[in-house]
Amino acid sequence: MDARRVCVTGAGGYIASWLVKLLLSEGYKVNGTVRDPSDEKNGHLKKLDMASENLQLYKADVLQYDGLLSAIQGCEGVFHVASPVPEFHGVLINPEAEVIAPALTGTINVLKACSEAGIKRVIVVSSSVTVFMNSKWPKDKVMDESSWSEQDLMRKIEHWYGLSKTLAERAAWEHAEKTGLNLITVCPSMVYGPQLQATVNASSLMLLTIVKGASEPMKNKLWSFVDVRDVADALLLVYEAAEASGRYICAAHSTYLHDLISKLKSIYPNYKYQQNFTELQPECRLSSDKLKTLGWKTRAFEETLIDSIEFYQQAGLLEK
Ligand SMILES: NC(=O)c1ccc[n+]([C@@H]2O[C@H](COP(=O)([O-])OP(=O)(O)OC[C@H]3O[C@@H](n4cnc5c(N)ncnc54)[C@H](OP(=O)(O)O)[C@@H]3O)[C@@H](O)[C@H]2O)c1
Repeated sequence: MDARRVCVTGAGGYIASWLVKLLLSEGYKVNGTVRDPSDEKNGHLKKLDMASENLQLYKADVLQYDGLLSAIQGCEGVFHVASPVPEFHGVLINPEAEVIAPALTGTINVLKACSEAGIKRVIVVSSSVTVFMNSKWPKDKVMDESSWSEQDLMRKIEHWYGLSKTLAERAAWEHAEKTGLNLITVCPSMVYGPQLQATVNASSLMLLTIVKGASEPMKNKLWSFVDVRDVADALLLVYEAAEASGRYICAAHSTYLHDLISKLKSIYPNYKYQQNFTELQPECRLSSDKLKTLGWKTRAFEETLIDSIEFYQQAGLLEK
């Protein structure tokens, strides 16, 4: 076994690209899975420092077991990041095929391959949406990892992405309990910050939409967000910390949408910004204290916002 070789699924995506960059900079060899290694949208990976020496790309769809197993075999650890993230206001025509099967069957496939390959530790990127959609949690109590989102509630309101992530994380824990696989799940809140990939991912599009303003109203709810670089740090931290176990909420800042916009306006006064809101919705705050006890540090709120906007400007996604 190659002691410092790890696999990252969905390596070309937003979070995974920053994780691959971090792993390479820390001296890891990385087997990255992508659906099409020749697609130019994965070209940024080949340009990362140390990529020519230590990054190998494998063609793998998470619905196809054999491709996953080839990428995972010979690794010490696996970071399962690949999972479809639809646009936040988009409508899914076939939720089962578009999000639920790739999230759920994909996670089961990855974990089975990890068991078959004798992987030492698996980190599954889940989401805070598996935590906070819990109507039974007391409104005045900060939410921690003991909270699980209610599947019936998500079905009722057709929150298919939330359901896909909750089914996948639940299945991951069932597999780990049955097999003894060393599993850790990380549940990031909304992720912002600069992109390494050329295509715009769903959470970056959300921030761009807030800045540009959309005609449909947005909920003035309490948003938790976290910098993409801090998510990559968290993933490596829980992988390397021997004492890490269980679930980890990964949320750095909480702010109502109005306050987020006020902060952005104070730095960039000339954008249109979202004008149209529905009622303020009181919600529970999320605690990342468990992650912080492992030594997780986060960037300041302003740094994430400024680095995001400057990236959008440089990439031509937002006028200066
Ligand atoms: N961004 C956020 O705010 C946020 C918050 C919490 C959790 N997360 C989680 O973080 C992970 C990464 O999300 P992201 O924000 O980085 O989004 P992203 O850039 O859209 O990445 C999603 C990745 O999943 C891959 N994928 C989707 N379906 C696949 C399939 N059937 N087989 C193989 N790969 C597949 C995509 O590959 P292709 O490029 O081939 O489509 C892409 O690499 C996801 O698990 C997501 O649920 C994201």
